[in-house]
Amino acid sequence: MKLTWLDPEHLDPRAVGGAVAVLEAARAVDAPHLLPTTTSSFTVMLQHGWEAEPTLGAVLHDERDQVVAVLQVSLPTWDNRHVGQLDICVDPRLRRRGFGTMVYDAGVARARGEGRTVVLAESWDEPGGVAFAKRVGLERGSDEVQRQQDVLTLDWRGLDRAHEAAAELARDYELLRMPGATPEHMVGAVLELTRAINDAPIDALAIEDQVFSPERLRAFDETQRRLGRRIYRVVARHRRTGAPAGHTIMAVDAEFPWHASQYDTSVVRAHRGHRLGLLLKIAMLRWLQTEEPQVRTVSTWNAASNDHMIGVNELLGYRVVANAIAWQRRV
Ligand SMILES: CC(C)(COP(=O)(O)OP(=O)(O)OC[C@H]1O[C@@H](n2cnc3c(N)ncnc32)[C@H](O)[C@@H]1OP(=O)(O)O)[C@@H](O)C(=O)NCCC(=O)NCCS
Repeated sequence: MKLTWLDPEHLDPRAVGGAVAVLEAARAVDAPHLLPTTTSSFTVMLQHGWEAEPTLGAVLHDERDQVVAVLQVSLPTWDNRHVGQLDICVDPRLRRRGFGTMVYDAGVARARGEGRTVVLAESWDEPGGVAFAKRVGLERGSDEVQRQQDVLTLDWRGLDRAHEAAAELARDYELLRMPGATPEHMVGAVLELTRAINDAPIDALAIEDQVFSPERLRAFDETQRRLGRRIYRVVARHRRTGAPAGHTIMAVDAEFPWHASQYDTSVVRAHRGHRLGLLLKIAMLRWLQTEEPQVRTVSTWNAASNDHMIGVNELLGYRVVANAIAWQRRV
């Protein structure tokens, strides 16, 4: 067996194809509710990453060049420079042959070589992933839950009532729709709103606050464009002072237009207690109804301990579809 790192400048289409084949075979078995990984989305991550931090990719292949496992290593640069995030995936037909361990060891060595002192990795909360993580010495850092909302059967009347009650508590605020990349005059406000995500629970994870800058925001916008994702952002603003109070962001992938991915929702501490989280999300649903009426499913992730956001999501009809665990280890 041989592990080969992918050169983002000169990607070998056979290696990329093999990696996508493994990721897709695993998705079909482990999490069919997820959106597929495509050759182009995988390539965008290797060449640009989520926010101009390209993911390092490697494939484990046999002597006939068949890819059997994929390793992705993310090395944050804007903050959390002590972290190496490992993503390990073995073809479901070829598990329990030591390939996962080989790939994990290579990931730890690479993270260490890049000066990282903590590795993070995620698994589904199922016996195989958990047994593997414990076996390689990872410790549980946080429990994560994925929920989905069925837009076709939403109780719009119920949402209208919830909106009316919440609007009463939020009459000092106005909501703005902001499609696509952040307009120049809103960059400062959006940065303030983005920073509020640092208040979300991180449980035992050895991570630091995220640091945001105009360059990072632009890099995020650019990646969304490259991925072919249409971005919708609703911003809450305090009427009297004009202060940005909260936002919620949704993405619809041009290739998978029936599915919307919920990105961040956050309300700035000083503006909490006015039901802005709920109002923002209902406003987003109404907007999607007009702009993206084909959307059937909305998907969101939360830390299991994020009671407040989960309370809002349950009220909006979200139901649990998967449980995952964020693992960590000092290396
Ligand atoms: C988890 C995963 C990477 C393991 O890959 P793998 O190639 O089967 O792992 P290994 O063969 O190196 O397993 C090493 C040890 O982990 C444990 N283990 C792995 N899979 C297991 C399972 N399904 N049930 C019980 N123990 C398991 C065993 O102790 C195993 O040693 P053994 O086979 O000698 O008993 C693979 O199942 C996978 O890709 N899962 C989906 C993605 C994922 O969860 N990745 C993140 C892991 S942190």
